[in-house]
Amino acid sequence: MQLSNDQLLLPGFIDLHIHAPQWPNAGVALDLPLEDWLNVYTFPLESKFQSSDFAKKVYEDLVQELLAQGTTTALYFGSVHNAGNLELVKACLKYQQRGFVGKVVMDNPQQTPANYRDESAAQALTDTKTFINSVYELNKKARIAVTPVITPRFLPSCTSEALAGLGRLARQYNLPIQSHCSESDWENGYALQQYHQRDAAVLDHFGLLTDKAVMAHGTLLNEADLDLFHRQEVSLAHCPISNVYFGNAILPAKQILERNNKIGLGTDISGGFSPSIYQNIRQAIISSHQRYEGVDAQLDPQTRGTKAPMLTMQNAFYMATIGGALSLHVPTGQIKAGCYADLQIVHQNWKTFQTETPQLRFEKLLYQTDKANIDQVLVQGKIVIGKEKYCENHK
Ligand code: GUN
Ligand code: FE
Repeated sequence: MQLSNDQLLLPGFIDLHIHAPQWPNAGVALDLPLEDWLNVYTFPLESKFQSSDFAKKVYEDLVQELLAQGTTTALYFGSVHNAGNLELVKACLKYQQRGFVGKVVMDNPQQTPANYRDESAAQALTDTKTFINSVYELNKKARIAVTPVITPRFLPSCTSEALAGLGRLARQYNLPIQSHCSESDWENGYALQQYHQRDAAVLDHFGLLTDKAVMAHGTLLNEADLDLFHRQEVSLAHCPISNVYFGNAILPAKQILERNNKIGLGTDISGGFSPSIYQNIRQAIISSHQRYEGVDAQLDPQTRGTKAPMLTMQNAFYMATIGGALSLHVPTGQIKAGCYADLQIVHQNWKTFQTETPQLRFEKLLYQTDKANIDQVLVQGKIVIGKEKYCENHK
């Protein structure tokens, strides 16, 4: 493969947190607080995925869109419906994206609508097992296997019986786990009120904080929570666009990197409006600057912001690539021997391109690259977007 003078080779990105069935709502109703947004917009949309036809249409579109955006690996929340979730698995297999897919568990009748919840904890666990085995079955014909993921939606949606059962299943099948943790004041407060413990401690109690666990958002995690995550090698999925709307605070991503906690980047469609990890790289840096500077002009400049070190472009790029790869235990995210050839080829034809230093070119590239600049995407050495597009005829 020969690159032209205006092309560059980059590792494919890893989206460490995305809700596949929320794709039709990307960019909708972001003015509501999290609890209302879930009840009024999100659960009603996800309930439609009991139709496999609808699921297939949405998921095929989403997987192709993410690949075109340079995302070669994604950790997906599905919906509660097994048939629909298997359409997502099939879309990953068909379009050759490295997929991690979870059947969402939400069985708490107090916090979920009657038309969109698991019938009982026992049923949720049975369905999770069936889903895992169905994925293994589909993987038999696959070039790139999809990994099933244990997926309690978050504490408010789940009974303690379901949480305990999912902890056991994760251990029994040795599978990754994903959930939300301390995303907002409301969610953080729910654990304290219901369990008299912090969100992270409750998840840990149920065996859900393993070295294969990815917890989304975490804007309200405290130092003790982060110590727990560090000790148990739990990963954080930083979703900087979504966090502006629902997080109630800015994640101290730089400090989390400095304390060597595992952390990657997620779009959180549709809490985040954009399917692009490039956009999330940029927002991670923008939010980090705002955290440093503060926001209230009436305060003295010295006390207005945190004045804590800010993310660099290298930090954000690391989260989008190596950070995500380490979180999922996959040798990807780097262009080197021993890693999968999960790659994107992008072009830029800046007139000043040749006169800038490599560092400035790197920053400018990541600030200015979008889908239109992505010429080809490869997953595990095969072109899946661009010329000689690879599409396995997966029936
Ligand atoms: N917490 C529980 N469910 C969700 C969801 O779908 N999106 C976000 N951002 N937070 C959640
Ligand atoms: Fe989320």
